[in-house]
Amino acid sequence: MATWSAPGKVFLFGEHAVVYGKPGIAMAIKPRVSVTVRKVRNPSKINSPYIENCFELTGVTGSVYIHSQLPSSSGLGSSAAVTVATLSAINDEFNLSLEKKDIADIAYQVEKKVQRGRASPTDTFVSTYGGLILIKDNKRRILPPENFNIVIGNTLVSHKTSELVEMVGEFRRTNPLVVDPILNAIEAVTIRSMHNFNNLKVLGRYMDVNHSLLEALGVGHPALTRLVNAARSGGAYGAKMTGAGGGGCMIALCPKRSKSRVAAAIEAADGKAIITTIDTEGARREDDDEREDYIKAGR
Ligand code: MEV
Repeated sequence: MATWSAPGKVFLFGEHAVVYGKPGIAMAIKPRVSVTVRKVRNPSKINSPYIENCFELTGVTGSVYIHSQLPSSSGLGSSAAVTVATLSAINDEFNLSLEKKDIADIAYQVEKKVQRGRASPTDTFVSTYGGLILIKDNKRRILPPENFNIVIGNTLVSHKTSELVEMVGEFRRTNPLVVDPILNAIEAVTIRSMHNFNNLKVLGRYMDVNHSLLEALGVGHPALTRLVNAARSGGAYGAKMTGAGGGGCMIALCPKRSKSRVAAAIEAADGKAIITTIDTEGARREDDDEREDYIKAGR
């Protein structure tokens, strides 16, 4: 029996623009998904297509228990975290000798297969390695970690990343003169943000600008606007939607002392708040006690 966990992610800057080769910054976050895999002769039916494909691609069979702190379908990379944790646990339980790079690559193949072609290599990379990640020209690089205090607000409005990416693509095809300057402005904000990681007020201001630019791309939602405004009134340095938009989650960059106040403001605006910060570990092995707990809980 082997239990591994993997973190979720948020985009700090640059979502949607990264699809067009612009830079983006993503960060692994503390909430995780844990997966226990056990070699058994007759495994019971698995009802997650992600997990099913992890077994199929590695050519082994086993039973699985999942425990997740991440809300699904909210843009926090929960399917990538499930996939990375499952592959890591399979690797351990069956001694497959896969390296981290292999786990990230296979996890991306699984996501692409289940999501019929449209998947983000960023989600699986961030979940595998953890930390702060710069995405540029479809390559990913680990940046030195930063201890940002982040409050996530989940609108609980479901969204489909593939549809939102397609919608922005269509807008760009039909209106390049309008959309290209917006993507260039997102690029500028992302680049400037990297020069201001130690100036949280400026960084917050850039988040506000990035949010408006995403709204200009057409991926805003009234519930996101409500939570972003609530977080700003609650004392955040700045706030923006994170991920594909159209629902899902927003993030607020906060002074340490204001985290609870910002979270309360988000909840008062009908959002579900998660206070978090960077995860620097990525996929990690969990200890035996915890594994036993999962099994006892029948998960
Ligand atoms: C979704 O989390 C982020 C997008 O930029 C898509 C992607 O990067 O694959 C909208």
